[in-house]
Amino acid sequence: MTVTIVGSQLGDEGKGALVDLWGGDADVVARYQGGDNAGHTVVQDGDEYKLSLVPSGAIRDKVGVLGNGCVVNPKTLFSEIDELRERGLDPDVRVARRAHVIMPYHRVLDGIEEEAKSDSDLDAGTTGRGIGPTYEDKAGRRGIRVGDLLDPEVLRDRLEYVIPQKRALAEDVFGVDTGEAFDVDAVYEEYVEIGERLREESMTVNAGEFLGSHVDAGDDVLFEGAQGTSIDIDHGIYPYVTSSNPTAGGAATGTGVGPTVVGRGEVVGIVKAYLSRVGTGPLPTELTGDDEELADYIREKGGEFGTVTGRPRRIGWLDVPMLRHAARANGFTGLAVNHIDVLAGLDEVKVGHSYGLDGEELLTMPATTERWGRCEPNLREFEPWPEVDWSAVAAEGYDAIPENAQTYLEYLSEEVGAPIYAVGVGPDRAQTIELANPFEQ
Ligand code: GDP
Ligand code: IMO
Ligand code: MG
Repeated sequence: MTVTIVGSQLGDEGKGALVDLWGGDADVVARYQGGDNAGHTVVQDGDEYKLSLVPSGAIRDKVGVLGNGCVVNPKTLFSEIDELRERGLDPDVRVARRAHVIMPYHRVLDGIEEEAKSDSDLDAGTTGRGIGPTYEDKAGRRGIRVGDLLDPEVLRDRLEYVIPQKRALAEDVFGVDTGEAFDVDAVYEEYVEIGERLREESMTVNAGEFLGSHVDAGDDVLFEGAQGTSIDIDHGIYPYVTSSNPTAGGAATGTGVGPTVVGRGEVVGIVKAYLSRVGTGPLPTELTGDDEELADYIREKGGEFGTVTGRPRRIGWLDVPMLRHAARANGFTGLAVNHIDVLAGLDEVKVGHSYGLDGEELLTMPATTERWGRCEPNLREFEPWPEVDWSAVAAEGYDAIPENAQTYLEYLSEEVGAPIYAVGVGPDRAQTIELANPFEQ
């Protein structure tokens, strides 16, 4: 069967921790979208791993697949694999030949375009990894795919077509001097070599066939979503979004197995017990003004600094309309709620239960970000819960969670309409309390 792990908010909900937990029961762990904009953290017995491309199942020695829906920077991939090898792991990563390659000019253009957009407040605060420009070229049918790196003639033809256009864009439209990243010969030589390493290490696969044969053999496959529903290019807060579909439908289009395969399995929404956001755009439940100190406190306690960029994350109360939206868009069969420990010991715990907009109460997100930005959250207050020894709580199980936190969790489950499968009370694998294993549902 399959289990699909999806971020239900704005990314960084703690997906890596759950992929690590349940990846232990899977045969294969596959990413289906995004690239090295992701930063997924796994903590095992105090050892921390931060992964941006290698699927988080690597820590459990599982075969990892980067599906066709991913955009792959092979340099990041190799350096991540090399680092994991230095730490004594032996990651087995396969890359879809249909996946698109992030080229050096994509990263440069990401920076240039963000800078240009910032004059009109349209910059998304991207991770600068070249994600958007690579997906643009995919849709524009001028991208370079992983399979093209294995065929020097095809690669040369593609580069000769695309690079002069990119150079003209950078120089003539944006007025920026270009360098080696826009030089056909230099890029060709470097990427032919990359293709050779991919071939030597037998890393490329027809991902759909590879995963389909595992599914047919009755293996358990875990789909690891990156980013989150509210930064999905279709269902998120456009234009302050990423350029792919983190929502569960992406697990089918981004790997090459049918939607029926994904739909027969479980779809688990990962929820952070409050909101964090790296990037720009509105955030109705953001803690600002008088609440800034509280935001600073949560940021420090929760370590809310970007895994990829180190940027301080913006902090807000849980946004329940955002979760109702995510439950519908993904069809959650279960939830995992993380960071209950971070809210412990506060004087007050609130959630945005609904929004007020133009005299109306809204229970879910409006479809335009401008309207979302005008929403006033209707806050609901919960009795706070005390700081406790969370490792001891994790060892004992759900009933040991402070009662007020249980009330919070039960409210959330009811509003979202899905049962809670796991509760995170700390970053370590041993600090996630499992109520149900989705592979056993
Ligand atoms: P991802 O991108 O969704 O995988 O999440 P990140 O790894 O970017 O950010 C989540 C951060 O919170 C990481 O530092 C995790 O180690 C940490 N984390 C995950 N679950 C919990 C939890 O329940 N409590 C606490 N305190 N930290 C957690
Ligand atoms: P994980 O998988 C949080 C945000 C960026 C920016 C927008 C577009 O760790 O949850 P991009 O570089 O993708 O073009 O940036 O999306 N963003 C993330 N925010 N977690 C992530 O990944 C993110 N990946 C991208 O901050 O606002
Ligand atoms: Mg992250």
